[in-house]
Amino acid sequence: MWTLITGAGSGIGRALALELAARGHNLILAGRTLAKLEEVAEALRADAPDCEVMTLGVDLADPASTRDLAHQVSDAVDHLSVFVYCAGVGEPAADFASLGLIDFQEALAVNVSAPMLLTQSLLPVLKGGDPASRIVMIGAGMDKHAQPGTGSYGISKMALRRLVRQMSVEFDTMSDGPVVSLFQPGLVDTLGIRSHIHKAGEMNLPHAEWLNRRLSSGDCLTAEQAASALAFTLNQVPESDFHGAVFNGADLVDSLSFAAS
Ligand SMILES: NC(=O)c1ccc[n+]([C@@H]2O[C@H](COP(=O)([O-])OP(=O)(O)OC[C@H]3O[C@@H](n4cnc5c(N)ncnc54)[C@H](OP(=O)(O)O)[C@@H]3O)[C@@H](O)[C@H]2O)c1
Repeated sequence: MWTLITGAGSGIGRALALELAARGHNLILAGRTLAKLEEVAEALRADAPDCEVMTLGVDLADPASTRDLAHQVSDAVDHLSVFVYCAGVGEPAADFASLGLIDFQEALAVNVSAPMLLTQSLLPVLKGGDPASRIVMIGAGMDKHAQPGTGSYGISKMALRRLVRQMSVEFDTMSDGPVVSLFQPGLVDTLGIRSHIHKAGEMNLPHAEWLNRRLSSGDCLTAEQAASALAFTLNQVPESDFHGAVFNGADLVDSLSFAAS
């Protein structure tokens, strides 16, 4: 069973790769920094020696590079059972006047255009699965909670939510299409979010202090907890409950630990 994860070199994507390798998935790790992907691949080979793993560098802000990734994946595997779009960006801006067009366009490119283009380009290897191939896009709660300074990130993640809705109705019209859901992790302690909070703090943005307080008090998930909740949606949620759903990472972690107690 082949699984593609974008943004697999760090944070939630890295933890998900380790979690799925332990559950018997073969993995294609895609991301911007090849050295990070190679480090994850080494860890996978040590932890799960039977897991087949490939690393593919891609700049998801660049449509040509994104298409090239899809070609390389389609050449390498006959069928993709799982596709998790975990890459994401979104620079904070000090105020509306300094919301930079380059940052705004990069967020739309990586968080909206690339998941659309990659899914579209991968359809030949995503269609025809039995069970249907599963796609998960990683959203963010910031999509519905507008805060000063979060325009690039929040607006692009809002568009990603709508993209998932669109894909779910489009896939319904295919006899052998994949199924898709959105996963909202909630606050997860990763270097990515810490870097965002640090930049937002330097700009005195109010959400930085709030997120910092939550990280300091442990009111957040670890990347491993987010990954196990994601793996649950991929491996255990029935297809009819998965397709078109919006999953909340923190709620899933709570119910999984309650079920295990
Ligand atoms: N952590 C949270 O609290 C939180 C909350 C809500 C949603 N999320 C979402 O969860 C996902 C993972 O975030 P994370 O916290 O794990 O942060 P992260 O470690 O910074 O992950 C982001 C990943 O995206 C990759 N990426 C960024 N731009 C790219 C590009 N142009 N081309 C290819 N890859 C690119 C990065 O690769 P490089 O490192 O090589 O640049 C990195 O591996 C993101 O979509 C984020 O929006 C996170």
